[in-house]
Amino acid sequence: MHSFKYKSGRLKCESVDLAALAEEHGTPLYVYSSETIISHYRRLDKALSDLDRRICFAVKANSNLGVLHLLAREGAGFDIVSGGELYRVLKAGGKANTCTFAGVCKTEEEMVQALNAGIYSFNIESEPELDRLNAVARRLKLKAPVAVRVNPDVEADTHKYISTGKSENKFGIPLSRAEEFYARASKMPGIHLRGVQMHIGSQITKPTPFSKAIRKMLPFVTALRRDFGIESFSVGGGIGIVYEQAIESGAANWWKSSHSGCMTLEDYASVIVPSLTQTGLKILFEPGRLIVGNAGVLISRVHYIKEAESKTFVIVDAGMNDLIRPALYESHHDIVPVIKRNGAKFQKVDVVGPVCESGDFFAQNRLLPTLRQGDLVAILSAGAYGAAMGSNYNSRTLPAEILVDGQHAHLVRKRQSFADLIRGEYVPKLKK
Ligand code: LLP
Repeated sequence: MHSFKYKSGRLKCESVDLAALAEEHGTPLYVYSSETIISHYRRLDKALSDLDRRICFAVKANSNLGVLHLLAREGAGFDIVSGGELYRVLKAGGKANTCTFAGVCKTEEEMVQALNAGIYSFNIESEPELDRLNAVARRLKLKAPVAVRVNPDVEADTHKYISTGKSENKFGIPLSRAEEFYARASKMPGIHLRGVQMHIGSQITKPTPFSKAIRKMLPFVTALRRDFGIESFSVGGGIGIVYEQAIESGAANWWKSSHSGCMTLEDYASVIVPSLTQTGLKILFEPGRLIVGNAGVLISRVHYIKEAESKTFVIVDAGMNDLIRPALYESHHDIVPVIKRNGAKFQKVDVVGPVCESGDFFAQNRLLPTLRQGDLVAILSAGAYGAAMGSNYNSRTLPAEILVDGQHAHLVRKRQSFADLIRGEYVPKLKK
């Protein structure tokens, strides 16, 4: 989190003071660093520079228009999973012909939308989906560009909810059936076989699962190029990031030092690039978390300190509806004071939100500098799967989002109002 640093005890994002931002925009508040986003994108691109490549940012990680616009300007492509994400990408200035469309349940409407927009490829996950796409494309008198998602059946060594490359996951076609799948698809008049795709999971911190999966896929990928003239191989996303001590340990430099047990970007590139070069194909990457995870924080204010019998609860105004990762995956996010207090003692606390669920916590039994009512805290590494997974649960309005750019703070999402909350709902005129 190299763009988030303390200066004279105050946490800054680039040159912007986070406490001042919280005063101006209220809390909870998401703040992103454009410098970090751009530098992660460029570093990945550089590490892969021996390849004919395209980095397609996984929009699901952070779909804010400001973030997408920044990446579109860098020349990124986009990995989308819904018509809504395609709509966002185009609104943000992204190009349809750089988009790959993933997901197991594309609707006819989404297929029509994406075909008309001219996306780069549909990542197909099942036979009935292929049949539907063929029919839709024929009706439109178009050929749908397709990459089949092949499941290499490797262990990603990550949380079970975000592991996708095993045979028991719902994703992709088994490698053993993939040849037959391509043969069938090649005879379909509405289908143009453009590539092949895999994605084995998310938050993968070791290079081995990637290299294993690629090694398993290579003979097949080579045969596809020969037999069907495919032009690209997408190796998915999943590159893990450092979540612990992201500020204090200088984890900003994680790609240089693997102090944290997380592979460096060079480790990742060095195990995959040589074999991928041999394919002679364009290689697509679909990183989400790597690009934005450590580029965002969630600022929240402490409202109450509740001394319970066996615990101290620090009750903050952000909830699981704003950042659901701890509740859903028991994932760790560092929490730091926005303004450091000199000589603060440490205290073991639970940091919890206002939502009426016991799962609404950000930290449990965590040793933190003593916090007081009114203090601001920053929940770190919240740029990926934070706001994007936000909801209105408990009728809580979605927070504002800020994109910092040097000394400028751009409001890239306005805090929702109560009117926003009920937009599109109706009070019925009941008959009796
Ligand atoms: N490509 C495909 C096909 C995917 O399913 C995903 C993520 C990505 C790329 C991007 O993966 P990344 O580079 O961000 O690891 N909500 C969870 C993560 C879910 C990931 C779903 N798929 C979390 O907060 O950890």
